Amino acid sequence: MKPSVLVTCRLPSAALDALEKACQLDLHTKDNGLSADELRERVHDKEGLVCVLTDQIDQAVFDAGPNLRIVANVAVGYNNIDLEQARRHGVVVTNTPDVLTGAVAEFTWGLILAISRRIAEGDRVVRAGRWPGWALDYMLGTELRGKQLGIIGAGRIGRAVAAMADAFGMQVVFTDVNIDTGQSTQSESPGSMHWVSLDELLGTSDVVSLHVPLTVDTRHLIDRQVLARMKRTAYLVNTSRGPIVDEEALVWALGERQIAGAALDVYEQEPTVHPGLLSLDTVVLVPHLGSATRETRTAMAQLAVSNVVAVLAGKPPLTAVLN
Ligand code: DGY
Repeated sequence: MKPSVLVTCRLPSAALDALEKACQLDLHTKDNGLSADELRERVHDKEGLVCVLTDQIDQAVFDAGPNLRIVANVAVGYNNIDLEQARRHGVVVTNTPDVLTGAVAEFTWGLILAISRRIAEGDRVVRAGRWPGWALDYMLGTELRGKQLGIIGAGRIGRAVAAMADAFGMQVVFTDVNIDTGQSTQSESPGSMHWVSLDELLGTSDVVSLHVPLTVDTRHLIDRQVLARMKRTAYLVNTSRGPIVDEEALVWALGERQIAGAALDVYEQEPTVHPGLLSLDTVVLVPHLGSATRETRTAMAQLAVSNVVAVLAGKPPLTAVLN
């Protein structure tokens, strides 16, 4: 008999077909995600779970699914999964690294351009019929060439964003956050990368881009104090996880013109956005689209499915977070 697997979201057919061949499926295909109650109810007899970042896989889920052998998150971030509980229950956890790196890096540059060149703001002006016509000093933005990009979080995505900086003539500096201590850190093998302290990065960068995972130590990493250390002309870009930025503090910083602007793909309470952000023209707001290309979402789903098929066949997972 095939092992049974709960899938909490619609999957591209290429991934679904592969999963269907190896497993018996319980599919949730509605737009709204499963409620916590439904998730617990439907996981009880399952050996595998394919989930997304909006599913909270906590102790109650692991308790409710005593037969679970693998939880495969269709995302690179896995802050929605309680790893301690997974370990206690002996469940393998996997994520989808690498396949989304290029898409998120491209998107980060889209946001950098959108905020520094006022693209989203300009779109609103045109649609609202508020464009008075061309003028030499109308809606001026900031040029990227010759400026400094500060990357906080030098993992795959942070490095991929940096690799594209040359095309825009920007210098890049890096800092990272030690997952254990929450302190700013730098790699032991810096290579050609220019490492600086968090303080120096904040005080000298024209664009600060966040690429750290969400952990207890990175929650509200960007708070009032940090924002106050940035240049008044600088932009903050977040394509990582919403709670890394204290949105209340960001509303303050933008309102006080402590920084020039921000571009956000992610939010503290998705899909709710802090009301203070909604009325500001100095912030670009998009709905968590970093990895949202057909190619990448298909590759993410296929990788999650490959992990499930492997583990349920008694093989090692391809991309384990916890094994
Ligand atoms: C991830 O994979 O963590 C992304 O946020 C999904 O878009």
